[in-house]
Amino acid sequence: MMEKNDFKQAMRATLDEHLTLANPLFKHLLNEQQPNTELLKFTTLQGYQLTKYFLTYIEHIFFYCPLPRHKTILLHNLYEEETGALSRTKNHVVLMQDFVRALGISDDEREAAKPLAATQELIDYRLNAVKDTTRLHIGAAAVLVASEGQNLETVGEEARHNILGKVYDLKEEDLLFFSVHQKEDVGHVKQGLAYLADLCTTEEMQQESITAIDHTCRLFYNMYQGIYEHFGLHQLETEAVGEPA
Ligand SMILES: [Fe+2]
Repeated sequence: MMEKNDFKQAMRATLDEHLTLANPLFKHLLNEQQPNTELLKFTTLQGYQLTKYFLTYIEHIFFYCPLPRHKTILLHNLYEEETGALSRTKNHVVLMQDFVRALGISDDEREAAKPLAATQELIDYRLNAVKDTTRLHIGAAAVLVASEGQNLETVGEEARHNILGKVYDLKEEDLLFFSVHQKEDVGHVKQGLAYLADLCTTEEMQQESITAIDHTCRLFYNMYQGIYEHFGLHQLETEAVGEPA
């Protein structure tokens, strides 16, 4: 069994191995020369499917957490998700709804959107894990490390939302969902790693946590790949290099 700090480092390394922003979808989304508003709207509505469930994940992780110190820390995370009070903003689902509206999507259209298969798989994997009391570490690894870790990625020096703002002419207040998470999730990932280091008492649990981080990152990548292919962008790419279809 790994020593706690080595285990934390191993989990962090697994997260860092997977740059989901490396998905070719982001080349199209963040292309200043050729903004693609329809693609951004669609990607946002897929992202919104995830946002709708995030509180449910944290609620379950909090509720089942057997370690009092970590339960208190999780309560702060939950309180912020629900109220936005710590960041002096709003409930995080509402912050995401503000972003969706800023893109010109109506509330009806937003609520009618359905997850693609890969998006649904990412939702279900985490939902099943956090509800299963025999796999608390897997739910925590998938949500607190792999999912919270997604907002920390940058493109070069810049956070993804800063580039989005420039390419699509969005205001800072429209992007609060992203800027709040970019700040908070640094702490949330650290808290997640600390929780898992205390929760995992066997080598098997440690290995399963690392596997869960790896798997969740792959599911995020697949979600972006699903959108990319839904828009036929993979075919465009093939045509552009003149390869037979
Ligand atoms: Fe959040």
